[in-house]
Amino acid sequence: MAEYSMILTERQGRVAVIRLNRPQALNALCDQLMEELGQALRGYDADPEVAAIVLTGNEKAFAAGADIKEMQSRSYPAVYLDDFIGKRWEAVTFVQKPVIAAVAGYALGGGCELAMMCDIILAADTAKFGQPEINLGVIPGAGGTQRLTRAIGKAKAMEMVLTGRMMDAAEAERASLVARVVPAAEVVAEAVKLGEKIGTLSAPAVAIAKEAVNRAYETTLAEGVKFERRAFQALFATADQKEGMAAFAEKRKARFTNS
Ligand code: CAA
Repeated sequence: MAEYSMILTERQGRVAVIRLNRPQALNALCDQLMEELGQALRGYDADPEVAAIVLTGNEKAFAAGADIKEMQSRSYPAVYLDDFIGKRWEAVTFVQKPVIAAVAGYALGGGCELAMMCDIILAADTAKFGQPEINLGVIPGAGGTQRLTRAIGKAKAMEMVLTGRMMDAAEAERASLVARVVPAAEVVAEAVKLGEKIGTLSAPAVAIAKEAVNRAYETTLAEGVKFERRAFQALFATADQKEGMAAFAEKRKARFTNS
């Protein structure tokens, strides 16, 4: 098991929980933390015992953004040549298994962007989302202008990105940024429960369902529908499709074998 200094990892049954753990800096996302996160995500994605991954922070902050103190003196050639914020940050978007963000407290800047890279966001009633980069003389750099706009629409996204205004959990749910709001004390347990539920289902079907939903963001409706149809048809080659449908017909619980 890898040694980490800025994240904590644990397994709860078939669900892996990754906790961002730099509380003294409100989980500001420095290079080291993002390296560790990428490593943990890749490890769990490759682990057949893991069905889903929960990504969380602490009760005060999911993450208050990229580390401002670390990046403040960087030059353009340095950020360009390092592909800051590209490859180190996008690890979560390459994970095949479902990744659930359990967000309590601040999810700002890169923290909001990281949550939006996950597949589902569960928000604690204390969660606050925002893209305050404009206050620093820059703009979101990890997909915020794109993913927030697609999630909540232009009017609200534009207001948040241009003013840095934060959105509380209730507004985030109304705006469809988050799947659900739960009491803060329960947000990680609820996310694990969601992961466990997913873990009872057919892993190939879950992975392809995630891929198909993500296609909706990457392509035209006609192409997306065609992708979905082919993926749907392909699942008839799995034992799990036979088992799932037989179990329904026989009025019993399906026993999926992920094959
Ligand atoms: N980077 C580095 N350090 C940070 C940080 C960040 N993003 N956010 C908080 N911290 C540090 C603070 O500097 C402080 O450290 P010290 O105790 O050493 O002074 C510690 O965390 C606690 O923070 P505060 O004292 O500020 O806590 P608060 O409760 O008074 O305020 C807050 C909370 C409103 C979230 C405030 O910390 C804040 O505004 N943080 C910055 C938010 C921000 O601008 N995020 C965007 C970053 S840019 C980005 O993310 C680019 C991108 O698109 C990828």
